[in-house]
Amino acid sequence: MNVSDFDMIAHLLKERSGLVLSQEKAYLLEGRLNPVARRYNFKGFDELAQAIRLARDEKLLSDVTEAMTTNESFFFRDAAPFDQFRDTVLPYLMESRSETKTLRIWSAACSNGQEPYSLAMILKENRAHLSGWHIEIVATDISEKVLENARQGRYSQFEVQRGLPINLLVRYFKQDNERWQIDDSIRNMVDFRHFNLLGRPSSLGQFDVVFCRNVLIYFDPETKTAVLNNIADLMPSDGFLYLGGVETVLGISERFQPIQGQRGVYSLAQDSDSFMVKAAG
Ligand SMILES: C[S@@+](CC[C@H](N)C(=O)[O-])C[C@H]1O[C@@H](n2cnc3c(N)ncnc32)[C@H](O)[C@@H]1O
Repeated sequence: MNVSDFDMIAHLLKERSGLVLSQEKAYLLEGRLNPVARRYNFKGFDELAQAIRLARDEKLLSDVTEAMTTNESFFFRDAAPFDQFRDTVLPYLMESRSETKTLRIWSAACSNGQEPYSLAMILKENRAHLSGWHIEIVATDISEKVLENARQGRYSQFEVQRGLPINLLVRYFKQDNERWQIDDSIRNMVDFRHFNLLGRPSSLGQFDVVFCRNVLIYFDPETKTAVLNNIADLMPSDGFLYLGGVETVLGISERFQPIQGQRGVYSLAQDSDSFMVKAAG
């Protein structure tokens, strides 16, 4: 691949999805786009690059963008944030929202669905305390392909062996040939929608809890700031944001601050004291 093709495609990806690709990742570009070239019957990468340059085929441009997304995910990823949600944030919200009995959660880059389904299983396990509650889990991603997989809720043996406790596998999944099908009672708790984090999410409504994990790592600092500020606009003053293990708001957004002692969990900057006092107590 020549430098000019690389620059042109890297620019397109940054514009469309926020992905920042450095020259050392050129091998990744070819590796992931060659299958797209084959699907479109292009003779090789050069012909694909030429078609991208002409930018006439919107479907091709979105297929190229999708092909470059990294969709790695697993159930209860990193365990601690999900334990923290179950043991600290959920009880706090159940108390603070006891009048309205409503709760809205956003999984903002949900990939194949493991993250929102993990949250749904936690809520299901707590159903005795949540009867009469109206709880919504909205799960979004830029990739239509992963959204389709997520809606189906069918996972390989390998996928259900990563992070999913055996008791939840037995309770909420049925084996169907080579795959494990998640139960409709969990599947129906999640509303999967297409959404690009570069857009304005106001149409999605307000969220008490936002999981935006392991996606900001692909963006440059300006894009991270814009995405975090958009998320902050959608949260009530005592909402909670979860980021991935290697992600932070520090130096990126002043709208959030880390909750002490709760790694990867953030509250809105101006109103964290009330929660921190409660959490500490
Ligand atoms: C590595 S996965 C993370 C999945 C899950 N949040 C987790 O932590 O396991 C990153 C996801 O972000 C999605 N993504 C990348 N850029 C995006 C964008 N601009 N808007 C929405 N989703 C995006 C990808 O399609 C991919 O499914």
